[in-house]
Amino acid sequence: PRIVVLISGNGGNLQALIDAQSHDRLGGGEIAAVVSNVADAYGLKRAREAGIDAVALPHREYDSREAYDGALIKVIERHEPDLVVLAGFMRILTPRFVQRFIGRMLNIHPSLLPAYQGLDTHARAVADGVAEHGCSVHFVTEELDGGPVALQAALNVSPEDSPATLKDKVHAREHLILPIAVSWFVEGRLRFDGTHATMDGVAL
Ligand code: GRF
Repeated sequence: PRIVVLISGNGGNLQALIDAQSHDRLGGGEIAAVVSNVADAYGLKRAREAGIDAVALPHREYDSREAYDGALIKVIERHEPDLVVLAGFMRILTPRFVQRFIGRMLNIHPSLLPAYQGLDTHARAVADGVAEHGCSVHFVTEELDGGPVALQAALNVSPEDSPATLKDKVHAREHLILPIAVSWFVEGRLRFDGTHATMDGVAL
Protein backbone atom coordinates (compact mmCIF):
# COMPACT_ATOMS: atom_id res chain seq x y z
CA PRO A 1 0.00 0.00 0.00
CA ARG A 2 1.18 3.47 -1.02
CA ILE A 3 1.36 6.41 1.38
CA VAL A 4 1.75 10.09 0.50
CA VAL A 5 2.91 12.35 3.34
CA LEU A 6 2.21 16.10 3.41
CA ILE A 7 4.55 18.35 5.42
CA SER A 8 5.35 22.02 5.94
CA GLY A 9 8.50 22.00 8.05
CA ASN A 10 11.04 19.98 10.00
CA GLY A 11 9.55 16.57 9.20
CA GLY A 12 10.18 14.89 12.54
CA ASN A 13 6.98 12.88 12.13
CA LEU A 14 7.90 12.12 8.53
CA GLN A 15 11.28 10.83 9.74
CA ALA A 16 9.50 8.58 12.22
CA LEU A 17 7.47 7.12 9.32
CA ILE A 18 10.61 6.71 7.19
CA ASP A 19 12.40 4.94 10.06
CA ALA A 20 9.36 2.72 10.73
CA GLN A 21 9.23 1.75 7.06
CA SER A 22 12.94 0.86 7.04
CA HIS A 23 12.35 -1.42 10.05
CA ASP A 24 9.28 -2.94 8.35
CA ARG A 25 7.03 -1.46 11.04
CA LEU A 26 4.68 0.38 8.70
CA GLY A 27 2.41 -2.62 8.08
CA GLY A 28 3.85 -3.10 4.62
CA GLY A 29 3.09 0.49 3.68
CA GLU A 30 5.50 2.34 1.43
CA ILE A 31 5.95 6.11 1.42
CA ALA A 32 5.53 6.88 -2.29
CA ALA A 33 6.01 10.65 -2.06
CA VAL A 34 6.37 13.62 0.28
CA VAL A 35 4.73 16.91 -0.68
CA SER A 36 5.37 20.24 1.04
CA ASN A 37 3.72 23.63 0.66
CA VAL A 38 7.04 25.14 1.80
CA ALA A 39 9.80 24.80 -0.79
CA ASP A 40 12.72 24.72 1.65
CA ALA A 41 11.08 22.51 4.28
CA TYR A 42 13.74 20.37 5.95
CA GLY A 43 11.40 17.41 5.64
CA LEU A 44 11.90 17.48 1.85
CA LYS A 45 15.62 16.93 2.46
CA ARG A 46 14.79 13.98 4.73
CA ALA A 47 12.66 12.50 1.93
CA ARG A 48 15.37 12.96 -0.71
CA GLU A 49 17.96 11.35 1.57
CA ALA A 50 15.62 8.39 1.96
CA GLY A 51 15.21 8.14 -1.83
CA ILE A 52 11.59 9.20 -1.64
CA ASP A 53 10.02 11.46 -4.28
CA ALA A 54 10.03 14.95 -2.70
CA VAL A 55 7.72 17.56 -4.22
CA ALA A 56 7.55 21.24 -3.31
CA LEU A 57 4.23 22.87 -4.15
CA PRO A 58 4.51 26.44 -2.83
CA HIS A 59 1.05 27.76 -2.06
CA ARG A 60 2.01 31.35 -2.78
CA GLU A 61 2.10 30.48 -6.50
CA TYR A 62 -1.69 29.97 -6.42
CA ASP A 63 -4.21 32.74 -6.16
CA SER A 64 -6.85 30.81 -4.21
CA ARG A 65 -7.21 27.99 -1.73
CA GLU A 66 -9.31 26.13 -4.26
CA ALA A 67 -6.69 26.49 -7.00
CA TYR A 68 -3.97 25.30 -4.66
CA ASP A 69 -5.94 22.33 -3.39
CA GLY A 70 -6.74 21.37 -6.99
CA ALA A 71 -3.04 21.32 -7.83
CA LEU A 72 -2.30 19.44 -4.62
CA ILE A 73 -4.91 16.77 -5.42
CA LYS A 74 -3.29 16.27 -8.83
CA VAL A 75 0.21 15.89 -7.38
CA ILE A 76 -1.02 13.46 -4.73
CA GLU A 77 -3.10 11.34 -7.12
CA ARG A 78 -0.13 10.97 -9.45
CA HIS A 79 1.25 8.67 -6.75
CA GLU A 80 -2.01 6.69 -6.39
CA PRO A 81 -2.05 6.68 -2.57
CA ASP A 82 -4.02 4.29 -0.40
CA LEU A 83 -3.41 6.71 2.48
CA VAL A 84 -2.56 10.40 2.83
CA VAL A 85 -0.83 11.43 6.06
CA LEU A 86 -0.73 15.06 7.23
CA ALA A 87 2.47 15.30 9.29
CA GLY A 88 2.81 18.91 10.33
CA PHE A 89 1.02 20.17 7.24
CA MET A 90 0.12 23.68 8.29
CA ARG A 91 -2.68 24.51 5.91
CA ILE A 92 -6.44 24.51 6.17
CA LEU A 93 -7.82 22.11 3.56
CA THR A 94 -10.88 22.87 1.44
CA PRO A 95 -13.96 20.65 1.83
CA ARG A 96 -13.33 19.44 -1.74
CA PHE A 97 -9.85 18.25 -0.78
CA VAL A 98 -11.08 16.54 2.40
CA GLN A 99 -13.90 14.76 0.56
CA ARG A 100 -11.47 13.57 -2.12
CA PHE A 101 -9.51 11.63 0.48
CA ILE A 102 -12.18 11.08 3.13
CA GLY A 103 -11.66 7.84 5.02
CA ARG A 104 -8.03 7.52 3.94
CA MET A 105 -6.41 10.65 5.40
CA LEU A 106 -4.83 10.81 8.87
CA ASN A 107 -3.47 13.79 10.80
CA ILE A 108 -1.21 14.02 13.85
CA HIS A 109 -2.28 16.77 16.24
CA PRO A 110 -0.33 17.90 19.33
CA SER A 111 -3.10 17.66 21.94
CA LEU A 112 -5.47 15.16 23.54
CA LEU A 113 -8.39 15.83 21.19
CA PRO A 114 -11.07 17.01 21.49
CA ALA A 115 -9.14 19.33 23.81
CA TYR A 116 -7.08 22.09 22.21
CA GLN A 117 -8.06 21.89 18.58
CA GLY A 118 -6.17 24.47 16.48
CA LEU A 119 -2.80 26.06 17.10
CA ASP A 120 -0.47 26.82 20.03
CA THR A 121 -1.68 23.76 21.92
CA HIS A 122 1.24 23.53 24.35
CA ALA A 123 1.10 27.19 25.41
CA ARG A 124 -2.67 26.90 25.92
CA ALA A 125 -2.30 23.72 28.00
CA VAL A 126 0.37 25.35 30.21
CA ALA A 127 -1.70 28.52 30.57
CA ASP A 128 -4.68 26.44 31.70
CA GLY A 129 -2.54 24.42 34.11
CA VAL A 130 -3.86 21.10 32.79
CA ALA A 131 -2.64 17.94 34.51
CA GLU A 132 -2.57 15.89 31.30
CA HIS A 133 -1.56 16.70 27.71
CA GLY A 134 -0.48 14.70 24.70
CA CYS A 135 -1.06 14.01 21.03
CA SER A 136 -3.67 12.39 18.79
CA VAL A 137 -3.80 10.66 15.44
CA HIS A 138 -7.23 11.21 13.89
CA PHE A 139 -9.04 10.82 10.60
CA VAL A 140 -9.35 14.12 8.75
CA THR A 141 -12.87 15.47 8.20
CA GLU A 142 -14.14 18.91 7.20
CA GLU A 143 -14.10 19.91 10.88
CA LEU A 144 -10.61 21.20 11.74
CA ASP A 145 -8.96 18.69 14.10
CA GLY A 146 -12.42 17.20 14.59
CA GLY A 147 -12.39 13.75 12.96
CA PRO A 148 -12.58 10.40 14.80
CA VAL A 149 -9.53 9.81 17.01
CA ALA A 150 -7.61 6.61 16.25
CA LEU A 151 -4.77 6.68 18.78
CA GLN A 152 -3.52 9.01 21.52
CA ALA A 153 -0.52 9.26 23.83
CA ALA A 154 -0.96 11.12 27.13
CA LEU A 155 1.59 12.49 29.57
CA ASN A 156 1.40 14.10 33.00
CA VAL A 157 2.17 17.81 32.97
CA SER A 158 4.44 18.95 35.80
CA PRO A 159 4.34 22.47 37.29
CA GLU A 160 7.86 23.01 35.91
CA ASP A 161 6.74 22.29 32.37
CA SER A 162 6.89 25.12 29.85
CA PRO A 163 5.43 25.11 26.33
CA ALA A 164 8.92 24.21 25.10
CA THR A 165 9.42 21.24 27.43
CA LEU A 166 5.88 20.02 26.70
CA LYS A 167 6.49 20.34 22.96
CA ASP A 168 9.58 18.12 23.19
CA LYS A 169 7.80 15.49 25.28
CA VAL A 170 4.79 15.50 22.96
CA HIS A 171 6.97 15.30 19.83
CA ALA A 172 8.59 12.14 21.18
CA ARG A 173 5.16 10.56 21.63
CA GLU A 174 3.96 11.75 18.20
CA HIS A 175 6.84 9.87 16.66
CA LEU A 176 5.68 6.72 18.45
CA ILE A 177 1.94 6.80 17.72
CA LEU A 178 1.88 8.02 14.12
CA PRO A 179 3.68 4.98 12.66
CA ILE A 180 1.50 2.67 14.75
CA ALA A 181 -1.76 4.26 13.55
CA VAL A 182 -0.49 4.24 9.94
CA SER A 183 0.40 0.55 10.18
CA TRP A 184 -3.06 -0.23 11.62
CA PHE A 185 -4.69 1.56 8.66
CA VAL A 186 -2.46 -0.14 6.10
CA GLU A 187 -3.22 -3.51 7.69
CA GLY A 188 -6.94 -2.79 7.34
CA ARG A 189 -7.56 -2.81 11.10
CA LEU A 190 -8.30 0.92 11.37
CA ARG A 191 -11.11 2.10 9.07
CA PHE A 192 -13.28 5.17 8.49
CA ASP A 193 -16.15 5.37 5.96
CA GLY A 194 -16.68 9.10 6.45
CA THR A 195 -19.22 8.52 9.19
CA HIS A 196 -18.12 5.59 11.35
CA ALA A 197 -14.57 4.77 12.38
CA THR A 198 -13.62 1.32 13.66
CA MET A 199 -10.55 -0.47 14.99
CA ASP A 200 -10.71 -4.26 14.54
CA GLY A 201 -14.45 -3.84 13.99
CA VAL A 202 -15.00 -1.97 17.24
CA ALA A 203 -16.52 1.53 16.91
CA LEU A 204 -14.13 4.32 17.88
C1 GRF B 1 4.08 18.45 15.13
O1 GRF B 1 4.10 18.89 16.47
C2 GRF B 1 2.66 18.14 14.76
O2 GRF B 1 1.89 17.63 15.81
C3 GRF B 1 2.14 19.50 14.37
O3 GRF B 1 3.19 20.12 13.70
C4 GRF B 1 4.42 19.57 14.18
C5 GRF B 1 5.15 19.05 13.00
O4 GRF B 1 6.42 18.71 13.39
N1 GRF B 1 0.98 19.37 13.53
P1 GRF B 1 7.34 17.88 12.36
O5 GRF B 1 7.39 18.70 11.07
O6 GRF B 1 6.66 16.55 12.13
O7 GRF B 1 8.66 17.77 13.05
